[in-house]
Amino acid sequence: MVPSLKRIDGRLVNIVDQGTGPAILFVHGFPLDHSMWKHQIDSLSDQFRVIAPDLRGFGTTESDDKLTTMRQFADDLAAIIEATDGISKVTLCGLSMGGYIAWEFLQNHSGLVERLILCDTKASADSPEARQTRLDNAARVLQEGHAFIAEGMMEKLFSRKTLSDNTEIVEETKQVILNSSPTAIAAALHGMAQRSDMTSILSGIEIPTLVIVGEEDGITTREEMEQMARSIPSATFCPIPDAGHMAPLEQPELVTNAIREFLTKHPIS
Ligand code: MLT
Repeated sequence: MVPSLKRIDGRLVNIVDQGTGPAILFVHGFPLDHSMWKHQIDSLSDQFRVIAPDLRGFGTTESDDKLTTMRQFADDLAAIIEATDGISKVTLCGLSMGGYIAWEFLQNHSGLVERLILCDTKASADSPEARQTRLDNAARVLQEGHAFIAEGMMEKLFSRKTLSDNTEIVEETKQVILNSSPTAIAAALHGMAQRSDMTSILSGIEIPTLVIVGEEDGITTREEMEQMARSIPSATFCPIPDAGHMAPLEQPELVTNAIREFLTKHPIS
């Protein structure tokens, strides 16, 4: 997995583009980067063209935005597809904030997506309290830095098993967060706080859809995702045991196999 910097719409975007075949676009969660998909990239690129960017401001992709909306991230993804030779449509796979971005992508760039994979995400907007917490956290990040975000998130991101048995990925993920830009974190917190409720679009999703959730996900729960899968016509629901919010990192083989099986069952026409 070797990312490289590509100039797209005047900005340097860090992006993995690996393998050949039908394209899968992997969209990371908050406040992470493309490396959360490292197992899926390395495994699925034997059969697919895997595209995994760092979103605006994250990893080593440039940005000095004060606010980044989910729509802006979605438009950036469309620009990446349009700037990438040999790709006209993708399977869109987003985790958590990557899922919030997927809703905007479906609303505004539906012609570019042919299959959908939603991991550990939700369609509802923030409650007023959750929105206020995001805004307070954004102000605090800009004042004192984001170490408190990295510290506070670990228990929420991982299952109990991962926290006790796989400290390596816990530490790696913490480092990714610590290496993120405070400006980008605050900009995305503002963007997530103002995102809309998308539950009304679920029943209109007509493309093949896979819904994956870590059974111990405390941020976007199994119950919430099962309900989401029921609302999407012919979605496949796939709970992953011994995983929390970061199922693709915690149980890489189970998640990769579920994705491969879904793509094999729903070949592109
Ligand atoms: C994520 O993993 O992207 C975040 O948990 C999303 C959120 O804060 O709602």
